[in-house]
Amino acid sequence: MSKTYYIETYGCQMNVADSELIKSILHDEGYRISENMMQADAIFVNTCAIRDHAEEKVHSQLGRFDLIKKQQPDTIIGVLGCMAQNLKHELLDSRPFVDIILGPDSYRRLPALLKRKEKQKKSIVDTSLSRFEVYDDLFPHRDKGVNAWISIMRGCDKFCSFCIVPFTRGRERSRNIKSIVNEVKQVVRDGYSEITLLGQNVNSYHYNNYNFSQLLDAVAQIPALKRIRYTSPHPQDITDELLNTMLKYNNICNYIHLPLQAGSDKVLKRMNRSYTRDYFIGLTEQIRKKLPGVGISTDIIVGFPGETDEDFQETLYVMKKVRFDSAFNFKYSPRPGTKANEYDDQINERIKQKRLEQIIKLQKKHTYRRNLELIGTIQTVLVERESKMSDNYWAGRTDSNKWVVFPKDDAHINDLVLIQVTDARGITLRGKLISHAEAA
Ligand code: SAH
Ligand code: SF4
Ligand code: F3S
Repeated sequence: MSKTYYIETYGCQMNVADSELIKSILHDEGYRISENMMQADAIFVNTCAIRDHAEEKVHSQLGRFDLIKKQQPDTIIGVLGCMAQNLKHELLDSRPFVDIILGPDSYRRLPALLKRKEKQKKSIVDTSLSRFEVYDDLFPHRDKGVNAWISIMRGCDKFCSFCIVPFTRGRERSRNIKSIVNEVKQVVRDGYSEITLLGQNVNSYHYNNYNFSQLLDAVAQIPALKRIRYTSPHPQDITDELLNTMLKYNNICNYIHLPLQAGSDKVLKRMNRSYTRDYFIGLTEQIRKKLPGVGISTDIIVGFPGETDEDFQETLYVMKKVRFDSAFNFKYSPRPGTKANEYDDQINERIKQKRLEQIIKLQKKHTYRRNLELIGTIQTVLVERESKMSDNYWAGRTDSNKWVVFPKDDAHINDLVLIQVTDARGITLRGKLISHAEAA
């Protein structure tokens, strides 16, 4: 009988894509997926280390695995991904029952390590980072759906002073363009309508003489690919060439996630973000001029060490000036090993919380206002799933990445349809189907 495994994934889309790689590696070894953690021969958790809260969630899950291991000592427990890379052997001090600790560049060795573990009692830790590993020749095992994640590069060399990613994911490296294009062609044949190109800094993509815009250009020409998204780009590397490529192809979504992090030049400098407040504002103006109707979202951190009230006001200033379509807002979380963790002017929790609430409130207002502006317009929407609200309604996203809910009529999942926006409630739009759209 073949062995079974269960896998749980935390963190960003890169981790979701990595779990699909891990599944493919395990399936090649004859493992089968189990929906029930209690019945699996091996339990894996693919972890995130971006903020303390992310690690806490994994810790509480590990508490549950401890109980399982006590009842079923033969079950293999594997901790994979960024937290494994971050903590390495240290994790065994508090969680000695963990069998395998594996960093993001070590997944190819998983089958061999599982075999080795059958023969030895001692836990195995493999967290060597690679300058080359991009898992190029592996085809990820994807669940059925509308969107396929396509990893195009790994690692990060930017070293923002608050961020653990350069330590957990190692040096930046890009995948072969041919292999990316072939993978996208295959997912289109497999029935996916949308792809999302993934990387910690997608627009740092560089393979031989090809840059990110050229990669996008090559992918956009693949027939029957309805939609292309990408995440996350770094503001510093948004080029005219990239905006021109986005303009040139209908199937590249009119949406950019542009992480601001902070509005004060002093804080940006200490964050090692390499741009100024005015550069960022100018960039958003340039993007909006070039790409009418574009959706722009962002990431914001409040309470970075040394952030004064005046600095925080600058963040609010940029938010008001840009009026983002949406934002992911975070309280700064000190990460041991990063530069900002060493700063001795850490901000207290109460202030962080207050600032966070303030930006959430402001962003809510902006999101709502931007959505109101869309009432009456006609938007191209990809039908993605049934609405949580009712099974008579579909939910899908506009080109600019806004969720719209509308009566099903004769549309089906994976259809590209034209929707007239009729209402805006909270962060979601309501609409009605006008017609089916021409595929791009
Ligand atoms: N490579 C991406 C970021 C990935 S992490 C980029 O540069 O856009 C996603 C977001 O988490 C970051 O944009 C940042 O806003 C937030 N983040 C990262 N480290 C953090 C920390 N130590 N505390 C709070 N938020 C953090
Ligand atoms: Fe982290 Fe900065 Fe790299 Fe993004 S660009 S992953 S925030 S170090
Ligand atoms: Fe978390 Fe690693 Fe992604 S730290 S955000 S899972 S790159």
